[in-house]
Amino acid sequence: MMWLPATFLFLIGATPALAQLTGSVGPTTAASAKRNTICNVLSYGGSVGSSDIGPAIQSAFNNCVLKNKGSTLYVPAGNYNMATWVTLNGASQWALQLDGVITRTATTGGHMIIVQNANDFEMYSSNSAGGIQGNGYQCRNAGPRLLRVITSTSFSVHDLIFVDSPEFHVILDNSQKGEVYNLAIRGADIGGSDGIDVSGSNIWIHDVEVTNRDECVTIKNPSSNHLIERIWCNQSGGSAIGSLGTGTTIENIVYRDIYNVGGNQMFMIKSNGGDGYVRNVVFDNFLGLGTAYALDIDGYWSSISTIAGNGVQLTNITFSNWDGYIVDGSRRAAYQVLCADNAPCTQINIENVQLWASNNVGKYACRSAYGSGACLKSGSGGGYSQVTESYTKPAAYSSPPTLSGNLASGFATNSPIPLPTISTTFFPGMPAISPLAKNGGSPTGPSSPTQPAGGSGGTAAHYAQCGGQGYTGPTTCASPYTCVVSNQYYSQCL
Ligand SMILES: *[C@@H]1O[C@H](CO)[C@@H](O)[C@H](O)[C@H]1NC(C)=O
Ligand SMILES: *[C@@H]1O[C@H](CO)[C@@H](O)[C@H](O)[C@H]1NC(C)=O
Repeated sequence: MMWLPATFLFLIGATPALAQLTGSVGPTTAASAKRNTICNVLSYGGSVGSSDIGPAIQSAFNNCVLKNKGSTLYVPAGNYNMATWVTLNGASQWALQLDGVITRTATTGGHMIIVQNANDFEMYSSNSAGGIQGNGYQCRNAGPRLLRVITSTSFSVHDLIFVDSPEFHVILDNSQKGEVYNLAIRGADIGGSDGIDVSGSNIWIHDVEVTNRDECVTIKNPSSNHLIERIWCNQSGGSAIGSLGTGTTIENIVYRDIYNVGGNQMFMIKSNGGDGYVRNVVFDNFLGLGTAYALDIDGYWSSISTIAGNGVQLTNITFSNWDGYIVDGSRRAAYQVLCADNAPCTQINIENVQLWASNNVGKYACRSAYGSGACLKSGSGGGYSQVTESYTKPAAYSSPPTLSGNLASGFATNSPIPLPTISTTFFPGMPAISPLAKNGGSPTGPSSPTQPAGGSGGTAAHYAQCGGQGYTGPTTCASPYTCVVSNQYYSQCL
């Protein structure tokens, strides 16, 4: 052997600097190019205080947006009820400016707003106060979802508030070149209340808060080349890839700077049978406070019934720079990598992941899993049955920071949930990448993600990046922190 295992692992250890999006995302023309015609719902049969704004939205779309390229469908500030769902299909170079708050009243299934086959599209509120109130407490798991964007290209969704959907909140369905940011999503403390589910390719999701008890920002099949960063899962179920079934094709995904407060897991890849692959994925810089699970790969996830197939093949998955604690280390392993016996995981890299438990019990659990870290076997090979090992508190573990605004518990399922305001920080020490629209942050065209700046004012904040190959932000840490090298690509203020 010419290489040492350590060198090999270092080479395959991916870096936060690696591009995962394959080009620019977001609308392809400037916001001003969508304001040639303003299609105001108040001119199409709508009124502030309307008992059903749906028909006016549909009419403004059919009779104005579709007939005038470069238009904005405008819902002015104010309160509206909605009982008729809309499908806004087939327009290009257009915007949906939702400055008002729409409240669901009907219980028809489906989606309150579907945007389909849009191209060069922007959906936003200019006052960062518009959105949809689902009042799901009135029809729990028996009503519409709030927003679905289907097979659309080059779009953005930002500065919106989605509250208490009876079902899922936001779904990006087989779309591409999207940018989704500055959102507040607040569901009830119950399953079936997904925050954002995304499939497709080239989607950049950043600066989003989710409260609920199901998916935070979760990747569905098929997916490739998504970048997901600065997500605040505030008493949420936690983010995931899955659940996965047959024909899974998911690759080139990066999650970084993910902050979990309470909830189910810091991250989970979940399946039970099925086939296909998940490969080339990086989970970097995660913080978790009091989650039930933490690092969780579960190829025998018992919440779904077993699907035909040998199991989904997981390869080249890196978890780096994590710090967090679970609630009960006796009941659950903080590091759990359980892979399918007939499709063992390979190249699972666990690097600088410091996990502990409130009750000071540490356990690793591995099954049919190969790679480095925790109880993973090195190299590759066949399936093996679950091994559980105890560990002592990692020397580098430190209790993760709290953010003002962390929720102590989720929202009740049987009473109204108030509309929050959108935060300007979604990860400790990192300001949002784009200012809120109300603070002048409206984008003017296509965006490309940059390296995360480590913080404002020339110094990097606690936990922010402060160095590494390709990094261009501040290299000095705010007092009293120092810049600690994790690897060639990443240094962090600790
Ligand atoms: C592993 O995944 C990373 C991140 O996507 C990628 O940069 C790297 O090339 C992959 N390594 C291999 C051996 O495929
Ligand atoms: C997280 O909790 C804080 C405190 O209640 C709140 O301000 C913030 O809006 C919450 N996030 C969401 C998405 O509800």
